[in-house]
Amino acid sequence: MTSTPPTDYFFDAYNRDEIAYGTDPSACLAAYLKQTAGGGPARRRAIDLGAGAGRDTLALAAAGYEVESVDLSERGLARIEERASERDLGDRVRTRLADVRQVDFPAGHYDAVIATTVLDHIPAKDAELVWQRMCDSLNATGMLYVHVHTTEDPGSDQSPGNASPEPVSETAGAVVNYFRPNQLAALAVRESSKLRILRYEERLEWDYTHGPEHQHGKAILLAVRSGFHPPWFGQPAAFPRHES
Ligand SMILES: C[S@@+](CC[C@H](N)C(=O)[O-])C[C@H]1O[C@@H](n2cnc3c(N)ncnc32)[C@H](O)[C@@H]1O
Repeated sequence: MTSTPPTDYFFDAYNRDEIAYGTDPSACLAAYLKQTAGGGPARRRAIDLGAGAGRDTLALAAAGYEVESVDLSERGLARIEERASERDLGDRVRTRLADVRQVDFPAGHYDAVIATTVLDHIPAKDAELVWQRMCDSLNATGMLYVHVHTTEDPGSDQSPGNASPEPVSETAGAVVNYFRPNQLAALAVRESSKLRILRYEERLEWDYTHGPEHQHGKAILLAVRSGFHPPWFGQPAAFPRHES
């Protein structure tokens, strides 16, 4: 192990053998990729914002997407490259050391835009700007998956999280913008977002993937471009066709 460079807040978390956040993709994203497998255009492009060590990037690449993985952590991006080549997915993944606020989002370009806990790592005003760029960059059959920490999180400086007796994440210091109840949902239903919500949830969860186990408050959104109707049966899938 080498020591933590001051600019890479997540260096230690991504430098461990047991990499923070593990290898399983976010459950809701995994359900979408499974249910829509084999559909859509032959060439599918995704961007994973705040990709970390790449658990969502790898799932997208395995599902056939060409993925741009953006993060400020050099160590995280190196682990993504390592994990992608171990799985023979290296040619589908391009890493970019960049701030999500500086990324150029081409309009109507992506089939999937993923932001698993990054909009809460930037100030609220910046998150609003990035949100709109993310939405604008979806194509007509695009999917958006967003995950943020909420004020229910024990690391939050606001109620009710700030009164929670539960343990706080070792990386809570990187979260600067805890979302209030319904705040992510309100963004999703804005007319300018041009989205149709497939799934929205606010809940607590325990995280065992890094540091001492701790609790989180999360808001999770899965949406598609309005007018798009992929074969989505929910998570878990409700009344899907029997497997023959
Ligand atoms: C909690 S981690 C989540 C990582 C990954 N999405 C996952 O769920 O496994 C948040 C990530 O966002 C990255 N991050 C924070 N602020 C960022 C910014 N302004 N631009 C790009 N990445 C950022 C961090 O370096 C970190 O890897």
